[in-house]
Parts: sequence; C-alpha cells; structure tokens
Amino acid sequence: MLRYGWILLVLIVVGVLIATGTTKAQDAAGTPVTFSKDVLPILQKNCQTCHRPGQIAPMSLLTYEQARPWARAMKLRVIAREMPPWFADPQHGSFANDRSLEQTDIDTITKWVDAGAPEGDPKDAPPPVEWAADGWQLTPDVIVRGPEFRVPARPPKNVIEWATAIIPSGFTKDTWITSLEIKPSDLTVTHHICATFVPHRDNVKYYEWNWNESPRDEEGVATDAGATPFGAASGVDAQAVGAASGIGGGISCYVPGVQADDFRKVNAARLIPANTDIQFAVHYTPIGQEVIDRPLIGFTVADKPAEMQWVSYAISGASSDFAIPPQDPNYKSPPADAEFTTDVWLVQMMPHMHLRGKDMTYHLIYPDGRDEIILNVPKYDFNWQLVYNPMKPIFAPKGTRLHVDAHFNNSSANKFNPDPNRTVYRGRMTWEEMMSPFFSIITDTKTDPKTILKLRGQTRIDNGA
Ligand code: HEC
Repeated sequence: MLRYGWILLVLIVVGVLIATGTTKAQDAAGTPVTFSKDVLPILQKNCQTCHRPGQIAPMSLLTYEQARPWARAMKLRVIAREMPPWFADPQHGSFANDRSLEQTDIDTITKWVDAGAPEGDPKDAPPPVEWAADGWQLTPDVIVRGPEFRVPARPPKNVIEWATAIIPSGFTKDTWITSLEIKPSDLTVTHHICATFVPHRDNVKYYEWNWNESPRDEEGVATDAGATPFGAASGVDAQAVGAASGIGGGISCYVPGVQADDFRKVNAARLIPANTDIQFAVHYTPIGQEVIDRPLIGFTVADKPAEMQWVSYAISGASSDFAIPPQDPNYKSPPADAEFTTDVWLVQMMPHMHLRGKDMTYHLIYPDGRDEIILNVPKYDFNWQLVYNPMKPIFAPKGTRLHVDAHFNNSSANKFNPDPNRTVYRGRMTWEEMMSPFFSIITDTKTDPKTILKLRGQTRIDNGA
C-alpha cells in the first residue's frame, strides 16, 4: 500500500510541476514560449557574434540542435548576468553596441528552459543571420597576410616577450580605409595583436621579428618595464610608433572578445598614405603545446575621401610612480589625463588593465568646468576586453579634458591575483600592470592626428599596449 502511496505522491508532484511548467512557459497572452519564435531572435541579437564557428565562445548557438544541450547553462548565465559579458554601469551613458539583455529577454529564456526548452514550429524562426565568411566579423575588401608567429610550448620562465614585425600594407596609392579587423588564426594563444601604420624605410626587413626584451628577475618579473615606450622595439622607429597617434590615425588591436573597428558606423575613415608599412606588435601566451599563429588583417576601403577621420589613442596613467603595495585592495593609479586641442567626438572606449584591474572611469571635463562620466566600468574583468561605443558620438569641444581614473585590487580577495604579497609595477605581462584607457575620436580630416592630444601630468602614450 505504502509503495502505491509513494507512486501517487510522485505522480501528483510531477503533475504539479508540469502544470506550473506550462503556465510559466506561456507568455501573458497564453502562447507557449518556444526556441524558434522567442529565443532564437534573442540569441541572434545578443549571443551569436561570439557563439558561432571561428569566434571566441566554446560552442555555437546558431540552431536549436546546438542550443538545446546548453539550455540550463544559458538560463543560469543570463540570470547571473554573466552572459552576454557587458560591464558598463548603466547609470552613465548608453552604448550602441550594448549587448546586455533586457529583463524581458532573461524572463523569456528562463520560461523556455523551465518548459523543457521546446523547439516550437521551425516556420516561426527568423532567417539565419548572414555572418561574414571564414570567421571574419566584417567582410573585408582587402586582406593582408600578417607575420607568422611560432608560439613555443614552454618558453623559459614561461614568458614570451612582446615582439614587433613590419609588413608591407600593399596600398600603392593613398587609401581611405573604412574598417580594420585583425584576425588571428589561433585564438587560444593570442593575448593581443596590435597594428599601427609606419613610414616605409628602404632598409626595412619585412616579416622579421624584433624582440621587445624586458630585463627580468629569476621569477620572470620585469625589473625595468616601461623603459622604452610600449610597442617600440629595438630597430623600430620609436617616433613613428609613439608619436601621438602614428600614421593614419593610430592603433588598432585584436584582444579576446573585441569588436573590429568599423569606422563606417560614424561615417569616418582613416587615410593610409601610399606605400605605408604596417607594424604588428604582438603578445602571445604559451599553452604547453607549440602553436603557429598566422594572423590576417582585413580592410574595407572607401572610393572617395572621407570628411571625418577616425583616430585611436592608447594613453596610460601608469608612470614610473605606479606601484601597487602588497595586499592593497583599492590602489588608485595616477590618472590618465589629456586635453583636446581641437573639436572632437568620442566614438569608442576600451579600458585595459591586467589581472589586478578593478575599475575604470572615463570623465570628460568640459571647458566650462562641467564634469561628465561617459563610461564607468565598476567591475573590470581582464578576461573580457570589451569596447564601448557611445550611442551617439560625444562632442568634446576644443579645450575639453579626458580624465580617466582606475583602481587595482592587489589583495587576496581578488581571485585572479597571482601574488598578493608583491609590489606590482607597470609592465607588459599579465602579472604586471597596465592602466591604459584606449579611446578613439573622430574629427575633421584637416587636423594632423599628432597635434590633437596634449598629454597632462605624467600621462604617456602607450602604443602597442
Ligand atoms: C563577447 C562574446 C560573447 C557573447 C556576446 C556571449 N557569449 Fe557566452 N561565452 C563566451 C565565451 C568566451 C564563453 C566561455 C568563457 C566563459 O565561460 O565565460 C562563453 C560561455 C557561455 C556559456 C557557458 C558555457 C559552459 O561551458 O558552461 C553559456 C551558457 C553562454 N556563454 C551563453 C551565452 C548566451 C545565452 C549569450 C547571449 C545572451 C552569450 N553567451 C553571449 C562569449 C560570449
């Protein structure tokens, strides 16, 4: 008897679960939530940029078959707001590339999963998004082969120093490029790849690596990091690299999770003079197995001159004073601070720090003294190097200052901290620190990019970072 009682109880419980499941799985109008109709559009808009072949996410979420096994994990990650990764404080600014989910989207995914993740009628599904081929984010008009890099399995001290190499751009006439994308062939080893345009020199040796050696102690920690400007390796024209922005509007980088620079979105372009060369500055991380990376760089080009030019800057607040004491949970870096000498519009920001980076805040201080926070990232996460594109370009009239503050957590409470008992100096490796608020502006094409920024205090240019 008892046994049948149990079975009955189980049946009732299951019945109740199914019943609540069904109610939960229906939206207000009473129609069931399905993958095809409700969930796929959310994935297309907010997830598939990364969750498709050739991108950084571990699995694709293009189809029902691909998404179904991940249903529960998706629910957990979206409720925790860990996916999609997005770190801008919503109180300051709104962003054109904001992929964070609306609460209603989170509710939809939750209801769908709670209902057993049904597919629904495939006829309800929106057409698949047409992604660029071969893992490109944008479809390039021109593709240039970058320098091949052999990443050793286990280098001495487990350190691979930064290296630079120069390649021909292939542009034989002055060219306005309207987007630029760097595409590594192996994402697992690529910490970053940055590209700048440098003047051609007759004695240049193409595709040859220059090593950016830092003196290191026996543990591999740099003892004199920052003695040379970042990215300016021996044999490379430091002036061309480090000058306010380099040729043709500065630096572009691949870092994990980054979006390619698309100047078309703000009707701008970058002028690449004929026969300019491209310098790659790379940092690879060993993974215990030899890997060869064969990066490509792709461009779209304009058929006529642009009216606005896009200029990217990498500045740094980490001067020689920068030193985070052991166990300090909230070290404040010297600020990065620069004044615009002409009217500009802010179009992109990318906070960059390393494992102890905690928060970063970008302010514009206008000539009338008004102080506006244009980006606040209160919980920086080194694993996500995201760019933030303001919804509309932010006007900064001549005389406006960009002022950036950042804090670092060198305590044991920081789970990414490799060693809380060490003083941490600026440096290029992830266990050293950087305080690099990257940003891009647009301005009229008559202004020489090298004259746009007046660095203040100890702020430095950080090209190649
Ligand atoms: C900017 C790129 C990016 C976007 C956008 C993104 N993801 Fe991810 N996702 C990743 C990466 C990289 C990982 C693996 C690292 C990790 O687990 O954090 C991941 C991991 C996950 C996982 C965990 C997989 C596991 O092994 O447990 C789930 C689930 C997930 N994503 C769902 C989503 C959903 C749902 C969306 C959209 C609402 C989304 N992601 C948007 C990059 C992204």
